[in-house]
Amino acid sequence: MRMEDCTVEENVQIAKDTYKMKIKGNFVKECRTPGQFVNIRIGDGREYMLRRPISISEIDRGENLVTIIYRIVGEGTKFMSNIKKGNEIDIMGPLGRGYDVLSLKKGQTALLVGGGIGVPPLYELAKQFNQRGIKTIAILGFNSKDEVFYEEEFKKFGEVYVSTVDGSVGTKGFVTDVIKKLQAENNLAFDKYYSCGPVPMLKALINTVGEDGYVSLENRMACGIGACYACVCKKKKNKDVISYDEKKVEYTRVCYDGPVYLASDVEI
Ligand code: FES
Repeated sequence: MRMEDCTVEENVQIAKDTYKMKIKGNFVKECRTPGQFVNIRIGDGREYMLRRPISISEIDRGENLVTIIYRIVGEGTKFMSNIKKGNEIDIMGPLGRGYDVLSLKKGQTALLVGGGIGVPPLYELAKQFNQRGIKTIAILGFNSKDEVFYEEEFKKFGEVYVSTVDGSVGTKGFVTDVIKKLQAENNLAFDKYYSCGPVPMLKALINTVGEDGYVSLENRMACGIGACYACVCKKKKNKDVISYDEKKVEYTRVCYDGPVYLASDVEI
């Protein structure tokens, strides 16, 4: 993990209130797994005290570039959306533990399930699975058509289904409605799932397809480096959550031990 002044190479709107930013810096050399994140200082850090944790959606080690996708949810992210190409940005990262890309073998199939701003980290995962000969089925959930992004990008790697809550594009409803529809048609076969999104989506997903997969949690964070315990989530009993700590603790720090966990390991 590094703290580094990086260069913004691109910062463009790609959907309603949703922006894509490319960041160049030496920290990219340390990016390991899809699903890690960066913690971004907003401005000079005086007006916006807390950094903003944003997941990495694409890694380009050759160019020392990462892409992040973020949504404007408050003044801090609004400030980010006005950063211009060529400006410097203070990055702490890469942080956290991502998805295990070695959990499937060539020829197997991964089901990728993302909701809203939970979609971006699945893109680098789809890319790495594709490079390893693993098929992907992506199910991407949004509120409405104007919020949809990266549908075409995911199609480069495999099948893609979209759901929208208002039905303005794709299946009306939630990602689990797409899954139930495909299951009813006997048209959904996969070996493991990989998900990221809001808690209700993750709960519904587990209820629909079980616990044989991975969840990435979006708990609110403060320090982002495992020091403040603002982001904890409860471990399931008798489960050894992947952790740098030797001692058993009842809670796990999402920013440090996660954000990606086996679905069977954490209380959601
Ligand atoms: Fe401080 Fe996770 S945000 S421990």
